[in-house]
Amino acid sequence: MKSFNIALMGGDGTGPEVLREGVKVLDAVAAKYDLKFNYTDYDFGGERYMRTGETLPDSAIGELKKNDAIFLGAIGHPDVKPGILELGILLKLRFALDQYINLRPVKLYPNVPTPLKDKGPEHIDFVIVRENTGGIYTGMGGASMVGTGNEIATQLMVYSRPVVERCVRYAYDYTRKRNGKKLLTLVHKCNVLTHVGDLWVRTHKEVGDADYADISQDYNHVDACTMWMVKSPEFYDVIVTSNLFGDIITDLGAMIQGGMGIAAGGNINPEGVSMFEPIGGSAPKYTGKNVINPLASICAGGMMLDTLGESAAAKAVDTAVHDALASGKIKSLSAGHMGMGTTEVGDLIASMIK
Ligand code: IPM
Ligand code: MN
Repeated sequence: MKSFNIALMGGDGTGPEVLREGVKVLDAVAAKYDLKFNYTDYDFGGERYMRTGETLPDSAIGELKKNDAIFLGAIGHPDVKPGILELGILLKLRFALDQYINLRPVKLYPNVPTPLKDKGPEHIDFVIVRENTGGIYTGMGGASMVGTGNEIATQLMVYSRPVVERCVRYAYDYTRKRNGKKLLTLVHKCNVLTHVGDLWVRTHKEVGDADYADISQDYNHVDACTMWMVKSPEFYDVIVTSNLFGDIITDLGAMIQGGMGIAAGGNINPEGVSMFEPIGGSAPKYTGKNVINPLASICAGGMMLDTLGESAAAKAVDTAVHDALASGKIKSLSAGHMGMGTTEVGDLIASMIK
């Protein structure tokens, strides 16, 4: 029996509720696939911050690093000023654990409404590989003469060849493993960002030409990409892109796959400790009502299994989610309209793990 140590961070709002269902499904998988998960709970989030002033102490990072993966509910509290928890917990973890990949599948399951007219599951099934620790997110830059009429501010888009290359290599490897259309599209803005864009374009081409002859290469400017994602999403297999562009287009991706109720993501360090989360946020107004949709958290658990090397178990989660939605038993993905409660959705998926 293989065993894994998993750090659980329920976080704020509905985070703990959806995480509970994700864990329920993991345990159902464990029973069928001869796995064992040892969980440790951590209470980082808005409540703890308001109580203690602490977001994520450095000692916690050392502890979290001892786990095989981190499973996160949601971070975000209405009474905490925007930025504090995002920077102090989410981004701090990404940087400290060097989770340099943000992996976001964009997949439309059966019976899930998409806002895209005439598109179905056969059209919407691709994956976005977002660079997750560099670029504009490094926080480099500064401000001067703040508050005067001449105030200036800069925020630098910083990329080095190694940081770009490790991301691009991950994306090529992922495209190969996914074994779909075997097409890796680089999304950037090289017509304007002539320095950084050029670095990405050359790295994508050089790495692909040298080591991935089986993968086709393509390139879209990011503004055009948002048009194609709406008009012809079937065009994509895997997209690789820089941090800020990835942040923006993955929210668009979440909407075309049916919304935040189903959108999952992984903050991945392929050589280290990765963190998986539903990307929807803490939805505080639904807290404790048993109405929030846990499917995104359940899907994030599936991604965690895949990253831990348990691909059959991961596939079982995806199949259960697919089959549950195909059955029509879940009426809607929106909170309060599912035709059942949060815990019942978790029970349903857990019961369908084969
Ligand atoms: C995301 C979020 C974060 C980001 C915020 C909360 C810092 O939007 O995970 O996409 O910008 O990366
Ligand atoms: Mn985002």
